[in-house]
Amino acid sequence: MIAIACDHGGFALKQEVMKHLTERGLEFKDFGTDSDKSCDYPVYAKYVTDAITSGECQRGILICGTGIGMSMAANKVAGIRAALCCDCFSAKATREHNNANIICIGARTTGPDLALMIIDTFLDTEFSNEERHIRRISYYS
Ligand code: RB5
Repeated sequence: MIAIACDHGGFALKQEVMKHLTERGLEFKDFGTDSDKSCDYPVYAKYVTDAITSGECQRGILICGTGIGMSMAANKVAGIRAALCCDCFSAKATREHNNANIICIGARTTGPDLALMIIDTFLDTEFSNEERHIRRISYYS
């Protein structure tokens, strides 16, 4: 199950992402926000990090204006490895090397078509399970 949330800056893109996930037949749970009315992104980051640390969801998608605030908030939580990605190479590498469990996207910095490609790459790439990556992740997880 995928957890997804956004703030007002990410609302329009989140609608497109959810449509895309539905077309792909992927199950997701939407944690808001539900409009483009101004709100505080850490509230929505917390909904998604809680869903992951509780085991309810395995992956998360967080969208705000830049993706930066969401990634900062999410990465304060133990067990969360949130990666702000603006390109597909990073999305692939952060799954293979960092075992990232959340991807953060900036709706004001990344166009919708590229955002969908980045998210697909993130969702479709497995962790490498290589010893050196497991060891490195253990420093901070
Ligand atoms: C909201 O204006 C904006 O600050 C937020 O979406 C995000 O970019 C924060 O990092």
